[in-house]
Amino acid sequence: MSEKDAYNEALRSGQYAKPGGLLGKYDNVRRFWEDEELGLYLRPYLEELIARKKKNAEGLRVLDLGCGSGDGLELLSGITRRDAPVSEHDSAVIPAAMLERYQGIDINQGLLEQARSIYGDRENIAFTDADINNYDLSGDVPYDLYLANYGTLSHNSDEQTVAILSRIAGHAKDGALVLVDWLGRFSYEWQTLWTHDFEHNQWMNYTISYIYAGDRQKQAALTYFPLRLMARAEALDIYQRVKAETGDAITLRQLADRSSFVGRHMDTAQYNPHCPPLRRLVNSLFEPNAATDLDELLIRYVPMEGFPEINAYYEKFTDWWNHLVMATTAGLAGKTPPEAPGEIPDTAVEVLSNMKGVLKLAAMLKIGNPRASLVEPQLGYCLRELEMGLQQGLGCGHGLVALFEIVK
Ligand SMILES: C[S@@+](CC[C@H](N)C(=O)[O-])C[C@H]1O[C@@H](n2cnc3c(N)ncnc32)[C@H](O)[C@@H]1O
Repeated sequence: MSEKDAYNEALRSGQYAKPGGLLGKYDNVRRFWEDEELGLYLRPYLEELIARKKKNAEGLRVLDLGCGSGDGLELLSGITRRDAPVSEHDSAVIPAAMLERYQGIDINQGLLEQARSIYGDRENIAFTDADINNYDLSGDVPYDLYLANYGTLSHNSDEQTVAILSRIAGHAKDGALVLVDWLGRFSYEWQTLWTHDFEHNQWMNYTISYIYAGDRQKQAALTYFPLRLMARAEALDIYQRVKAETGDAITLRQLADRSSFVGRHMDTAQYNPHCPPLRRLVNSLFEPNAATDLDELLIRYVPMEGFPEINAYYEKFTDWWNHLVMATTAGLAGKTPPEAPGEIPDTAVEVLSNMKGVLKLAAMLKIGNPRASLVEPQLGYCLRELEMGLQQGLGCGHGLVALFEIVK
């Protein structure tokens, strides 16, 4: 029956997959918090790179290590220009026509198939089944951007990571950028695993159980695999080793925490029973027309004895997170905002002022649901902004992000 075949083709294409939104790998937090935060860390350097490329009339070349279903492409295409006027329709930092080559590499054939079904018909985009640790870069023209995002390097030993970053530093030209991340060693999601033992690399037994959030039986049947948890000092040690091995051909530009309270395992609470389901709630903030109970967003951080620096970061972030949420709730109800919990950091001044403006505007709107479609998404962005302003790159997030530049 041709109609059955037609629907099956559509299903197999991957394009029929339900949009992420509240659940799944491509949920709202992934798109509007995590991808955008990575993009914001990258943007100042990427804008410079793109300006140089334009001046030399060259295209952009990207290598995505552990590309999954071509996820780096989505991340890059979502990065918008810092100075883009509101009136402009096309605000992408990388104009689509500038992408000379995107080469994705992964060992998972199912994910590569999904990638090909989405992007496979474009000449400048290729996906290769290969192990990133054996991939021979010498046959490729140098890339401008090397990505290994969302924990790909946490599959590696530190020795493998030093080797791969050294090979990249040897292969790339001056000015190329390398964006990677590991799982953060001190994410609140796995507080029960925190240790002071820096003599040994720490690996956690990870499971992708968030795909069955709330269904313990299905979660229990899932496979576990080891992932390397990384603290700031350990990432810096890897950096120094690569520097030494490559004659200083690499410079660290950014080391930052991503997803301190919105990582995947906040909702499963599998490795920390104190975790409130903040990812679910922030997904709801970003979802148009879905109103969220803002009281549920308030965090009661439970400190871990013996980790003063880590607790101090989380306590400060908690204080300002809660303050911003309470100020928004008060503003919605037309009440006076609460007292500030201490000296106001610059980033809190900015987000509080932004929310004040949004609340004022929302109160004037008469069409649609301004609370769910304007106030709440803006609150989501402001919480993200707060994280970016307060984080210290200690390994206190689901991801510890490192951005390097090649200097030759
Ligand atoms: C956590 S996922 C990240 C996927 C993707 N980069 C993203 O942005 O969502 C890690 C990916 O690395 C791939 N991977 C792990 N070890 C690898 C290796 N040695 N060589 C190639 N790919 C690998 C996995 O198959 C998986 O797709």
